Amino acid sequence: MRDANPAQNNQAVHLKDYAPVPVTVTHVDLTFRLDPQATRVLARLTCERRGPGDMVLDGEALRTIRVALDGAEIAPEIEGDRMILRDAPDAFVLETEVEIAPERNTELSGLYISGGMYCTQCEAEGFRRITWMLDRPDVMATYDVRIESDLPVLLSNGDEVAQGVWRDPWPKPTYLFALVAGDLVAEADTFTTSEGREVALNVWVRPGDEGRTSYAMDALKRSMAWDERVYGRAYDLSVFNIVAVDDFNMGAMENKGLNIFNSRYVLASPETATDADYANIERIVAHEYFHNWTGNRITCRDWFQLCLKEGLTVFRDQQFMQDMRSQAVQRIGDVMTLRARQFREDAGPLAHPVRPESFVEINNFYTATVYEKGAEVIGMLRRIVGAEGYDRAVALYFARHDGEACTVEDWLACFEEACDVDLAQFKLWYSQAGTPHVEVRDSFNDGLYRIDMKQVVPPTPGQPDKAPMAIPLAFGLLDTAGNEIRETEVHVMTQAEEHLTFEMAERPVLSMLRGFSGPVMLDHPMEDVDRLRLLAQDTDPFCRWEAGRRLAKERLIAAIGEDVALDADWLDAVAALATDATADPAFRALALALPSEDDLAGSLHEAGVVPDPDAIYAARRHAQMAMAERLSSAIPALRDACATAGQYDPRAEDAGKRALSATLLRLQTFLDGGAAARAAYDAADNMTDRMAAFACLLEAGDESVAARFESDWRHDRLVMDKWFAAQVSHAAPRDAVDVAKRLTAHSLFDPANPNRVRSVLGALTAANPAGFHAPDGRGYRFYADWLLRLDGMNPQLSARLSTAFETWRRYDADRQALISAQLDRIAATDGLSRDLSEMIGRIRG
Ligand code: ARG
Ligand code: ZN
Repeated sequence: MRDANPAQNNQAVHLKDYAPVPVTVTHVDLTFRLDPQATRVLARLTCERRGPGDMVLDGEALRTIRVALDGAEIAPEIEGDRMILRDAPDAFVLETEVEIAPERNTELSGLYISGGMYCTQCEAEGFRRITWMLDRPDVMATYDVRIESDLPVLLSNGDEVAQGVWRDPWPKPTYLFALVAGDLVAEADTFTTSEGREVALNVWVRPGDEGRTSYAMDALKRSMAWDERVYGRAYDLSVFNIVAVDDFNMGAMENKGLNIFNSRYVLASPETATDADYANIERIVAHEYFHNWTGNRITCRDWFQLCLKEGLTVFRDQQFMQDMRSQAVQRIGDVMTLRARQFREDAGPLAHPVRPESFVEINNFYTATVYEKGAEVIGMLRRIVGAEGYDRAVALYFARHDGEACTVEDWLACFEEACDVDLAQFKLWYSQAGTPHVEVRDSFNDGLYRIDMKQVVPPTPGQPDKAPMAIPLAFGLLDTAGNEIRETEVHVMTQAEEHLTFEMAERPVLSMLRGFSGPVMLDHPMEDVDRLRLLAQDTDPFCRWEAGRRLAKERLIAAIGEDVALDADWLDAVAALATDATADPAFRALALALPSEDDLAGSLHEAGVVPDPDAIYAARRHAQMAMAERLSSAIPALRDACATAGQYDPRAEDAGKRALSATLLRLQTFLDGGAAARAAYDAADNMTDRMAAFACLLEAGDESVAARFESDWRHDRLVMDKWFAAQVSHAAPRDAVDVAKRLTAHSLFDPANPNRVRSVLGALTAANPAGFHAPDGRGYRFYADWLLRLDGMNPQLSARLSTAFETWRRYDADRQALISAQLDRIAATDGLSRDLSEMIGRIRG
C-alpha cells in the first residue's frame, strides 16, 4: 500500500513559515467499514474558506476510491502525500472514500490491529493514514463517527449516540481522534464532577486481563478529583474510556474521551507488577487525563508548540504525584530522570530548544527536552511569580484560550498580564538549547559573607553563542552546627555574573539550588565536612540527597581505574543514613543508590576525561562492595525493619520499604553470593520483591533462576518483558551482547511488539553500558543490525532506539571509529525511513 504514495518528503519544516490554512474544516463525519485487509473510510468534511489559497489535504498510504465536492464526483489532483483542491468555494462539503489495511500497518501509526483489536494512534501525524484531511493541530472540528463491524465493543471520541455511533461535541484537532473495536471487557465505575455531571468510567482490556485494572481506575478517579481541586478543571463528557493495547509506540495517548494506553501502563496486580509499575500507572493515567484541559480544550497551534501541552502536563503530573506520594522523593526522582535523559540529550548532538525551530519528522521531537525540561520551565515560572501568581495566570489562560490552538507566546502573555512581570528574558528558556552551567564560589571575610555566581550556557548544534538566562536560584544558609540561619529565598539570576553579600558573625554553609530550582549544572566546590553537614542536616531534602550524591560521585570518579580504598568518613555517612530509622525508607534507598554508569561517564566527559565503561563498571562494584562490608552486620536487621504488614499494598509508604530492602539485598549479595536473594526469591509474594531478588541472582551468576522464572511466567507478556530486560541488564558486561543476541532469537521475542524490543535492545544500551560498549564493537554492530531491521517495520521505534548512539563522541578514538562505521552503514542504507535518517544525520553531526 505504501506504493500509493511513494514520494518520501525529507524536507525540514520551520516554525517561521507557519501560516494558517486558507480553507478549514469545521465538522468531520466518518464511517468506518472495518476489515483487516480492506477497511473502507468514508469521510464528509464540512469546509469553510478563511482566506485566499488552495486547500491542501494530507493522506498517506491510502487507496483513494472516490472524491466528491458538494455531491459531484471530482478527479482530484494528488501529488505524493498531498491532495490539492484549487478554487474551492467559500463553503462546501468534501467527500472521500479510501481503503486502508490495518493488518499491514506495522508502523503502529494510524489505524492498526493489536492483539485482535482495532486501535488508532494519530499523534502526531497518523490521521492522514486513515483518510484525507487537514492533518494539523490548528484545524479543530467536531466529529460524528459511525463504526460498522461485528465486533462487540466499538468506541470513539465523545458521547455514545447508539451502538458504534459516537459524537464529539468539542472541536478537536485530528491528532486527538481515536477508534477502538474489539472483543473487550471493562471495569466500570462512575464519577460525579464538581459541576454535577455523571461520568461513566471504563477501563477496557482483553478478556483475561480483567482483575488487573483497579489501580488504573483508582488513579483515574483521584486524577479527576485533583484537577478539580487544584486547577478548578472538571471533566466535560458523559463517558471517559481507557483502553489497554499491547502494541504501542509510546506510553499512552490522550485522545478526547478515549485514552489509549500501552498495556504496561494500565495492567497491574501484586503478582505481576512492581512498585515502579504502579507508580508509572498512577502518573501516566493522571498525565493523559490532565491533557483533557492542557492539550485538548486548549491545544497547540502547530507542532513547534508541543511543549505548551507536554511541558505543562508533565509539570501537572509531577505536582499530582507529589501530592499523592512523598514530595521529596518524587522531586528527587524527577530530577534523576531529567539528568539521566535530558541533560544527556542537551549535552550531545541531539540538543534542541524546548521549542524547536525546525524538524523533518515531528515524532523525533517527543523528547526529554520537550517533556521534562518543558516541565522544569513551568516550575521555574511558578517559582518566579509565586504559587498565587501562577494560579491567576493559569486561570486567565483557561478563560481566554478555551477552544483555541495556542502558542508559547499566548501562554506567557497570561503570566505577564496576571502577574505584571516582563518575561522577555525568561522566554530564552524556550529558544536556547543546552544546560546552563552555574558556577558558585563563596567566601567569608570580616563578618561579610559573599556568594559569587557565574552562568555559562554551552554551545549546542546551530547555536554557538548564548545570552544569559533568567535562572531562579533557591538557597538557604546553615550555621556550622547545621542549624538553618536563613530560610529558603529565591534569587533570580539574570546577568552572566552576579554576587550577593550578607553580614554575619560566622562563616555559614550554603545550601544552593534547593528543590533543584532550575535545570542547571551547579559547580559549587565545597569541603567534605560541609557536604557531610548538608547530608546529615539540611532542611531541604533535595539538597541533602544531592550532598550525598556529590560525595559518592567524587569518590567513584577518584576510584575509576585506580582501585583506591574508599574513605571511612564517607562510609560512615552512608551507614548513618542507611540506619537512620527516623528517615523515610524511600529517601534512604535513593541516598544509598550510587550514580549510574552513564551519569559517571557523562561527568567524566564534562570534566575533559575520556570515560572507560569497564573501569566505571568496576569502580561502582568496588564501591558497592565497600558499602556492603561497612553495613554487613546491620543489613539483616535493617531488612527485617523494612517488612510490611499484611497484604501487598502499592502505596508509597510500603513501596519505600521494599525499595530500601531491595537496595540492601543487593549489597548483601556482594557478601553471600546470593544466599539471601535465593531465600527472598522463594519467599516473594509480589513481583516487586521477586524482581529485586531475581536481579541479585542474575548478578550473582545463578544458573537456574532464569529458567525457573520463565516456566512460571511464560504465559504473561508483561512479566516476560521484565524477564527479558533483567537478563540483559544484569548480565556481566562481557556476556551482555551474547545474552541480548540469544534473547532476540528466543521464541517469545517479537520484533513487532515495541515493549518486547525495548526490553532487550533498550535494556542493553540503558542498563548495561559496559556491555553495549564492548571494546571490539560487537554491541554496536548488533544494535545497528537491529535498527535497520526494525526501521522497515516501525520507523518511530528505530528512530527512538537510535538515541543510544547520541553519546558516541564521549568515548575513545577506537570506540568512536567503531560507532562511526555503524552510523555510516545505517546512513548509506537505501530506503531508510525519514525518522531514522533524520536522527542518524543529527547524531553524526
Ligand atoms: N501525547 C502523548 C503523551 O504525551 C504522546 C504521544 C506521542 N506519540 C507519538 N507517536 N509521537 O502522552
Ligand atoms: Zn503528554
